[in-house]
Amino acid sequence: MPADAAADQAGIDRAIVDPRTYADQAACDALFARLRRERPAHWTAPDSVRPFWTISRHADIKDIERQNDRFINDPRLVLTSIADEERVKRITGGNHLLLRTLVNMDDPDHRVYRNLTQPWFMPPNLKKLEAGLAALAREFVDRLEDMDGECDFVRDVAVWYPLRVIMMILGVPREDEALMLKLTQEIFGARDPDMRRGGDTDEKAHVSATVKEFFSYFGALIADRRKNPKDDVASVIANAQIGGKPISEFEALSYYVIIATAGHDTTSSTTAGGLLALMQNPAELAKLRARPDLLRLAIDEMVRWVTPVKHFFRTATVDHDLHGHTIRAGDSLMMCYASANRDEAVFAEPYAFKVDRAPNPHIAFGYGVHLCLGQHLAKMEIRTLYEELLSRLEHVELAGDPAWVEATFVSGLKRLPIRYRMK
Ligand code: HEM
Repeated sequence: MPADAAADQAGIDRAIVDPRTYADQAACDALFARLRRERPAHWTAPDSVRPFWTISRHADIKDIERQNDRFINDPRLVLTSIADEERVKRITGGNHLLLRTLVNMDDPDHRVYRNLTQPWFMPPNLKKLEAGLAALAREFVDRLEDMDGECDFVRDVAVWYPLRVIMMILGVPREDEALMLKLTQEIFGARDPDMRRGGDTDEKAHVSATVKEFFSYFGALIADRRKNPKDDVASVIANAQIGGKPISEFEALSYYVIIATAGHDTTSSTTAGGLLALMQNPAELAKLRARPDLLRLAIDEMVRWVTPVKHFFRTATVDHDLHGHTIRAGDSLMMCYASANRDEAVFAEPYAFKVDRAPNPHIAFGYGVHLCLGQHLAKMEIRTLYEELLSRLEHVELAGDPAWVEATFVSGLKRLPIRYRMK
């Protein structure tokens, strides 16, 4: 390869794995527009990360995720450095996973475990949450009333409302929410010394202590829900059986962890990113105010616009030809949802935020058998908040610079200063 082509390739590869790319919408859009156009299946070999194929077109991602026997989840799920992969193996004594959750599983286990909770997450069952969600939305908009017309919408609303919803369905009382947030951050942020529990010098001891604390918390919750089942998802998991036997505590715990983590940052990023999009597109906000019946479409557009989950990986089990390349069995592929949802082959004016976009075949919730389990809940909770917010908010504008989390996996706003007037 000529030197300038090699430098170009290295630049692209660095950008794909650089967390800063995903905190800079213009850079992200430019990178992926080029990949979709010139290199839709791009062999990516950055320093310090095992190589993989970057898949950027909407149609290819759907095609790959549809074939879940030829492209599986277990071997590699998200972008991680080689050092982080080694770290997990050190902690687990050789295993590549800290916990085994739905997203890590393939069939036949995936189907069996997903079926345990899928009915609970379907719209007919979720109807029973309507009144509770409306009350929570009121409470959070009341908070805005109580503040003096200025706040950080992320810190004051978007982080806490989805957390409360998830904890409510997991049966965690409000006073334990901060503990849950701390424990999940400790597990997932254990490499960062600031996130470690006091006194732990080595990370293995740190993670084991956190997992133990999780186990004892949810162990008590499981015991309670076995004795006194309620109609929350915590009770469904606690009483789940496979082949006539209760699932183990480890499996139940993994289930709680995936719901707690998958359902939080994703929804809060969309809630905050949606408000920013409305403020930056006043004509769209006006359209939505004039026609509140557009809210369902608007929420879907917010999810497409933000695409908080930037990617998931699949691993090929057989050789596969794509755009003139042979993807070998064992190769991994990065499904770039953030790129797919701006694909000009699928979306008219992909870089425009339109509250009435229809159809809107985005794949921000993924596709195929792993399609987000919580998608109906996510849309329902965001819609409920916006119903309340838009009906009580008279005016809203940016009051400073927004800031984004630098992360390659789940990313969104970390700061959204707003100035507003209530009716
Ligand atoms: C899976 C996105 C909210 C629970 C996924 C996947 C994506 C995603 C991209 C992987 C799909 C694939 O591999 O094809 C989102 C977005 C959300 C959101 C954008 C909010 C806007 C939620 C909520 C919950 C949740 C609120 C839980 C209550 C899950 C679970 C899985 C999943 C359990 C694993 C499903 C499986 O592997 O079968 N989500 N999610 N998500 N999500 Fe969500």
